[in-house]
Amino acid sequence: MANLYSQAEADRLAFWSAQAHKLDWHKPFTQTLDWSQAPVAKWFADGEINACFNALDRHVLAGHGDRVALLFEGEPGDTKTYTYSDLLVETKRAANALLNLGINAGDRVAIYMPMIPETVIAILACARIGAVHSVVFGGFSADSLRSRIDDAQAKLVITADGGYRKGKAHALKEAVDHALSAENCPTIENVLVVKRTGTEVVWNPKDIWWHEALAEASAEHVAVGFDAEHPLFILYTSGTTGKPKGILHTTGGYLTGASYTHKTVFDLKPETDVYWCTADVGWITGHTYVIYGPLANGATQVIYEGTPDSPTFERWWQIIEKYKVSIFYTAPTAIRTFMKLGKEIIEGKDLSSLRILGSVGEPINPEAWQWYHDVIGNSRCEIVDTWWQTETGSIMISPVPGAFKTKPGSAQRALPGIKVGIVDENGRAVEVSTAGSVAGYLTIDEPWPSMLRGVWGDHDRFVETYWSKFTGKYFAGDGARFDEDGDIWLLGRIDDVIKVSGHRLSTAEIESALVEHHWVAEAAVVGAKDEITEQAVVAFVILRQDEIADAPDEESIGKILRAWVTEKIGAIARPRQIMVVTELPKTRSGKIMRRLLRDVAEGRPVGDVTTLADSSVMTAINDKLSLGAND
Ligand code: PRX
Repeated sequence: MANLYSQAEADRLAFWSAQAHKLDWHKPFTQTLDWSQAPVAKWFADGEINACFNALDRHVLAGHGDRVALLFEGEPGDTKTYTYSDLLVETKRAANALLNLGINAGDRVAIYMPMIPETVIAILACARIGAVHSVVFGGFSADSLRSRIDDAQAKLVITADGGYRKGKAHALKEAVDHALSAENCPTIENVLVVKRTGTEVVWNPKDIWWHEALAEASAEHVAVGFDAEHPLFILYTSGTTGKPKGILHTTGGYLTGASYTHKTVFDLKPETDVYWCTADVGWITGHTYVIYGPLANGATQVIYEGTPDSPTFERWWQIIEKYKVSIFYTAPTAIRTFMKLGKEIIEGKDLSSLRILGSVGEPINPEAWQWYHDVIGNSRCEIVDTWWQTETGSIMISPVPGAFKTKPGSAQRALPGIKVGIVDENGRAVEVSTAGSVAGYLTIDEPWPSMLRGVWGDHDRFVETYWSKFTGKYFAGDGARFDEDGDIWLLGRIDDVIKVSGHRLSTAEIESALVEHHWVAEAAVVGAKDEITEQAVVAFVILRQDEIADAPDEESIGKILRAWVTEKIGAIARPRQIMVVTELPKTRSGKIMRRLLRDVAEGRPVGDVTTLADSSVMTAINDKLSLGAND
């Protein structure tokens, strides 16, 4: 591994070219990077590649068709195994089904599914024919789905009648119907519906059963190469303004980043390892480390449909024991939840197959790291704390197993080939000092293959958000500091993006959902520290006196507004607490001072109020604190 660092150090572009050459190219590339139109990069631009061919066909052609690709465990306990050959046959059928529906290369397809094998097949089928997938997490509301379909101008939605969550069938098709109702989403021509739960669904003229479409489709399909810069997918993520951004990833560079990092960080041995990443494919972790990375590397992996507590919190550990999982990748929130429950949850489970444990999505506190290491890993597994983002496409900062000694709570070093820095407000580099360095802003200083290529339909926002704060550097939105050894410690977001259970939410988006309710005149949302979920949504609202004459008491208002946010965005954005206030703390220029609201939400004495236009506001809010916790 030390080798990788020195190779990348010696010649970064040659290093990336070598990584890209580990993939199968329909047409080889001759140019590694074209940065002449910065910040839009072109990697391997004159090459042609098919991401699905790399995920499936090449393993079958290399004689590994009988290797298990997916070990599926449904929440109710049903199971299904797919070899690479099985997955290829199904994906070819699905690709033909899409072609039969008139989907062409470049068309956008929205995917709104539970965690089942058909989701993997649907995604790969899109990639195979060059259609651009836009996966929308199944926990998002119909409204969120509608806005994403509209923004991407998708032609098709692939969904399921439902999926199993927390012991119940959870409807999905219903939300699609709702999103498409009243002639909304006019670009959608068809809805392909996978039968998963057997729940009765309303049938509309655009609807087609997935199993019927696949049964009619041929199992023969030859994958062709697409330009390396052909769009592979769009994935919406929250930013600092109300509207989610469609992060665009293209084919060759993304796949290079996904496969290289997956192999390096998890030290993957595809012949013997059983890998399990618990992320839903609705998030970037599911894209890169459930779909593209592991499949491009020919891994055998577990996918599990349900929640960790179904039927009890022993479920995950039973799955690890049952399938002899050796590489496990999850989020700190889950680790903290288990830690709170105590080591009894793993009593009697044989977890001796584990060798690498990964963490992603939010900073992992040293206590949770240690517990993960000592209890789950029985003090013999490597922990890899991986920092990255939807925008970076693949892991940027992480220890590499065996390369150096790990430290609880630190993601440590940029991977070989990646250049990161920490700068102060003026863009000056923060140097490593013997006493440990001051905190600054995390930047990525050189282009990398899996970097986002833009924000769908909004080039200005792309430039403005990521490339204008520090000239020539990618601004990540995270705070970070070096310790005296030069290891990096991530300090969380420095903007109005919050992380709840590793899910990325925008305070502005929740605020605009709240003010859409006719009772609400103004809203301010903050992320308050939470022992388990890292942050929790706390909303402060000013009610419209003219509208609330007949409104119920404040507790009921809180309940109704929380349900409203669930309906507008999804349950993941539901505020833990809603505080009804009569004023919000603002500066003289009218900016809401969230720092002070965070103090209130976290139960701390309120900080410096001298810049407030009216400093008595905070006293009023503190005195009020009317509702307490709504959860
Ligand atoms: O704040 C960082 C945090 O998650 C953000 C990216 O969120 P998202 O695009 O949803 O991707 C999550 C999965 C890659 C980052 O800006 N984050 C992610 N991983 C870590 C982290 N913070 C600290 N440590 C991590 N390992």
